[in-house]
Amino acid sequence: MPFRQAKWDEPIIFEVSDFSKQTFLIDEEFADEASEALSKVPKSLARGSELKIPNLSEVEVVRHYNRLSQMSYGVDVGPVPLGSCTMKYNPKICEELASDPRITDLHPYQDEEEVQGVLEIMYLMQRWLSEITGMDECSLQPPAGAAGEFVGALIMKKYHHDRGNDNKNEMIVPEAAHGSNPASSAMAGFKVVKIPTAPNGETDIEALKSVLSDNTAGLMLTNPNTLGIFESGIIEISDLIHGKDALMYYDGANLNGILGVVRPGDMGFDIVHLNLHKTFAAPHGGGGPGAGAVCVKKGLVDYLPVPIVGFDGRSYKLRYDLSRTIGRVSWFYGNVVPIVKSFIYIATLGPALREVAEVSVLNTNYLMSKLRRLRGVTLPYGENRWRKHEFVVSFENLLKETGVSAEDVAKALLDRGLHAPTIYFPLIVKEAHMIEVTETETKENIDRLAKAYEEIVELAYRDPQAVKSSPTNTSVKRLDVLVANHPKTMAPTYEYLSRLSGQET
Ligand SMILES: Cc1ncc(COP(=O)(O)O)c(C=O)c1O
Repeated sequence: MPFRQAKWDEPIIFEVSDFSKQTFLIDEEFADEASEALSKVPKSLARGSELKIPNLSEVEVVRHYNRLSQMSYGVDVGPVPLGSCTMKYNPKICEELASDPRITDLHPYQDEEEVQGVLEIMYLMQRWLSEITGMDECSLQPPAGAAGEFVGALIMKKYHHDRGNDNKNEMIVPEAAHGSNPASSAMAGFKVVKIPTAPNGETDIEALKSVLSDNTAGLMLTNPNTLGIFESGIIEISDLIHGKDALMYYDGANLNGILGVVRPGDMGFDIVHLNLHKTFAAPHGGGGPGAGAVCVKKGLVDYLPVPIVGFDGRSYKLRYDLSRTIGRVSWFYGNVVPIVKSFIYIATLGPALREVAEVSVLNTNYLMSKLRRLRGVTLPYGENRWRKHEFVVSFENLLKETGVSAEDVAKALLDRGLHAPTIYFPLIVKEAHMIEVTETETKENIDRLAKAYEEIVELAYRDPQAVKSSPTNTSVKRLDVLVANHPKTMAPTYEYLSRLSGQET
């Protein structure tokens, strides 16, 4: 059956709305009270113009959003093989339990005695994540992986400062790293020192040795790395870093490939962030915060952001008493919902967490062995090595031979009812597709992905233009990426709101 995404000529909600109608009607019965209350609002605080929010009936709103949802694609519709994003299925039991009003209706200033249940969940999460990572304590505060990196970099900075080592101002980051690694290091005030990847796909240890100095504050690394390759020299790397009195930071975005098998703490890492919205099945995005818990080894516990949750044998408390804390990184625990979802996920799987890694690695390598055989496709770096959670193929040859690029192939996948993988990352691979098949995909779906790639590559040699004009089956056709990425077009309401306020767009 050919894939056809629903196509609705759907205006944005501001355009559906008729602003000539009055937005709010105050019931006659309350008119006097309302005008009296309004007369008490100080002039300086009163709205100068009418409130411009859509004035639609419930049914119009429900239909509008349902039509939009039929035009979108997500992990509940089909596979999303976005490398480095770990787009696994989010079990509905986690959604259901985390939607309990006893979680969602809590107030941040509520008495600790009244919120013992949620504090216990958070306390247990701190314990479980410490156990899973081989660390001693965690803070659940950071609302994303990148925020966790920033916290880790700030901890390093303060730790070196306290030891009188302000000269330690360099963070070493592999060239293949996710962009957030150099960005968060630079934001914390470090000079970023890049090191290359060796032909076997691992960190080039000789290059690492050549940049190490007394100024080295730490190394940020993800293992398995962004090529999906496990850094077999990790113990040597951590000895080299510790030998310079520097710290090891683990970017946990790729933990899915080793979950329950090896622990960052046992590899020599001192600070770890975890993306609960990747490894532990809390959904990504969706307008809410994520959860980028940070865990550390004993000597760094006092530096964690406060408050963490403590237990005195009788009750659970928010602890602010960490003597060297870098402070708060979120005002409240607004990310408690994804934390609870991940808690349920871990509680449900228990020791079977290890199978998550085993099946995701198996699925990924199964697909890799099919794709690497295709014409025009190569597997750069560590050609004879198995991958962990993800792999990166290059369409450089396909581009040279047919003019069809990695982007064109990705767009053609959309036409076949599949989500595209991550493209053009890591930067060390030309015409890259970074593909991650999580443990929640069936063999049939992986075969579907492989078949789609096979068809597209074959079409590229036969009729390159057909691939280059994809997608044609989707509700939105090929976008001009420059225009699409412009802030004015990124926010769909921008143009409309600017028009309302009389500004030029
Ligand atoms: C390797 C790696 N590190 C860090 C991050 C940042 O995580 P977040 O998106 O939660 O900020 C990502 C996100 O995709 C990633 O893939």
